[in-house]
Amino acid sequence: MTGYLKIVVALSVMLVGVSRFAYAGGAPNLEAGEHIAQTFCAKCHAVETVGKSPLEPAPPFRTFHKKWPLENLEEALAEGIVVGHEAMPAFELSTEQISDLIGYMRTLEP
Ligand code: HEC
Repeated sequence: MTGYLKIVVALSVMLVGVSRFAYAGGAPNLEAGEHIAQTFCAKCHAVETVGKSPLEPAPPFRTFHKKWPLENLEEALAEGIVVGHEAMPAFELSTEQISDLIGYMRTLEP
C-alpha cells in the first residue's frame, strides 16, 4: 500500500511539473516572436509597425488583424496551412514559436 501511494505521489508531482511547464510555454515571448518574424517573414512582409513590405504582394503583418482574428492565424499556422501563399517557402514552427509570433503580431495592433 505504501509503495502504491509513493507511486501515486510521484505521478502527481510529475503531472504538476508538466502542467507548469506547459503554462510557461503558453505565455508568448515577444522578443522571440519578433526574432521569428525577422528571421522567417521579414524578407517579404513588413513586420514592424511602420514600413512597406519588401515583396509588393505580401501584406504587412500589422494589417492581418483587420482581416481576421489572429486566433485564426494561430490555428492555421499550427496546422501548417497558410492560405494563398504562392511565393512562400515552407516553414515549420513549433507551437511555442507560433504562440510567440502571434504574441508579437498582437503588439502591432494599433
Ligand atoms: C518569400 C516571401 C514570403 C515569406 C518569407 C513569407 N511570406 Fe507570407 N506572404 C507572401 C506573399 C507574396 C503573400 C500574399 C499572397 C497572396 O495574397 O496571394 C503572403 C501572405 C501571407 C498571409 C496571408 C495574408 C492574407 O491577407 O491572406 C499570411 C498569414 C502570411 N503571409 C504569413 C507569413 C508568416 C507568418 C511568415 C513567416 C513565418 C511569412 N508569411 C513569410 C510572401 C512571403
